[in-house]
Amino acid sequence: MRDYLDSLARNGEVVTVDRPVDPYHELAAVTRAMQDRGTQVVRFNSVRDTDLPVVTNVHTNRERFAQLIGATRKTFCRDWQTLVREPGSSQAPTAAVARPADLVSGTLGDLPLITYHARDAAPYFTAAIVLAQDPDTAVPNLSFHRAMFVSDAELRVRIGESHDLAAIYAKAEARNEPLDAAMLIGVAPELFAAACASIPRDASELALAARIAGQPLPVYPGDAVALDIPASTEVVIEGQILPGERRREGPFGEFLGYYVPEGRNPVFDVRSVYWRPQAVFHSLLCGSAEDRVPLQMLNAAATFGYLSKRLPGIVDVSCAPSLLNTTVSIEQQYDGHARDVMMAAFESNQDYHKVCVVVDADDSTDDVTEVFRALVSRGRLDKRVIVIEDMPGFYRDPHKDHYGRLGIDATRPYGREAEFEKKAIPGQNDIDLDDWL
Ligand SMILES: Cc1cc2nc3c(=O)[nH]c(=O)nc-3n(C[C@H](O)[C@H](O)[C@H](O)COP(=O)(O)O)c2cc1C
Repeated sequence: MRDYLDSLARNGEVVTVDRPVDPYHELAAVTRAMQDRGTQVVRFNSVRDTDLPVVTNVHTNRERFAQLIGATRKTFCRDWQTLVREPGSSQAPTAAVARPADLVSGTLGDLPLITYHARDAAPYFTAAIVLAQDPDTAVPNLSFHRAMFVSDAELRVRIGESHDLAAIYAKAEARNEPLDAAMLIGVAPELFAAACASIPRDASELALAARIAGQPLPVYPGDAVALDIPASTEVVIEGQILPGERRREGPFGEFLGYYVPEGRNPVFDVRSVYWRPQAVFHSLLCGSAEDRVPLQMLNAAATFGYLSKRLPGIVDVSCAPSLLNTTVSIEQQYDGHARDVMMAAFESNQDYHKVCVVVDADDSTDDVTEVFRALVSRGRLDKRVIVIEDMPGFYRDPHKDHYGRLGIDATRPYGREAEFEKKAIPGQNDIDLDDWL
């Protein structure tokens, strides 16, 4: 992560806070305020009760995130699909290196223990990426799982049922075996992106990270677990997720902006904690741009791939602003095209796409104001809205709060496009107001 931060700093995209900050609510409050001002990375150099500096707001910017794969925001969906579909490169995805001699050993209590929201039960690690491997196939998997600090020996983690780690853990549990795992905090951006992505379970997310980086990923052997640790990781927590054990975790202020109540969740038994010399610790404000932007972009890219395989004319997809909504732009090919796109989007993933809006190719998919304007200005609403009752949503949804879907056709009426030509003023894009004021 430090190489990436250095490159962002050279571009003036990092601000530094030297004033001491309290990890109990204050650090989160400053992070939040900084996000209202822009997308600069913040580095807190003096965090109470720890020697490690904290960086946050690293992945808050769509253009910056797109650049990780050499794309722009406009080309991201297409370029990401090319990347994931590329046949495995002839290079090995990882390159074994010796375990560095200068890693610093410590305890969880030495790390920044950050409490974010008013009703959070405890400090949380929010940017911890869990590395584990399938017990049958040894395919490595990366995914984020919030981790509640309990003591130097114990964390409690939430593993959503639809995620690959849930399936991997279930296999270990069925054998009554603990699952070796490592939490990686402060990773190179290619690992961050690979951890956000959902790819088939038989594909390695370490190999995907190597493909994004365009070179094999250096890894060294774990200290207490049989896993290869990506060498760029700033802070590593190794341990085991215990079989048949669930303990109280939460409440925690989650990504939809509400508190998830206390539940009984798996236990991560800590075995070894260490970090690189001069390590930086990554903190991420749940539900903020740093959480939403990467997931939105990768979910949009996956949806683009799904739709493009099934239907013609798919131009772009965005899941801004909430992740649970989707906007698709199309080159209309036939009457009813938009409706087919909505239905396919709903089929593509049960967790997302609660609302799907379809717009034309020359409309923005990220700008909700523009999408809404298209919706209300292009013909009768009652024929352009589909409500699907009782279509299931999230897996753990006892009240069915995420059931149902809303589809909205905000494209120009098919065959009458000329009547809805966007007006333009000749020369409007060439005006430099400094020449006029
Ligand atoms: C910052 C962040 C935090 C997340 N926290 C959790 C979490 O606490 N529990 C969970 O199950 N998924 C969480 N997720 C979602 C999964 O980590 C993510 O969807 C991942 O792609 C799943 O990986 P998989 O393809 O290996 O299933 C989080 C994602 C991000 C970006």
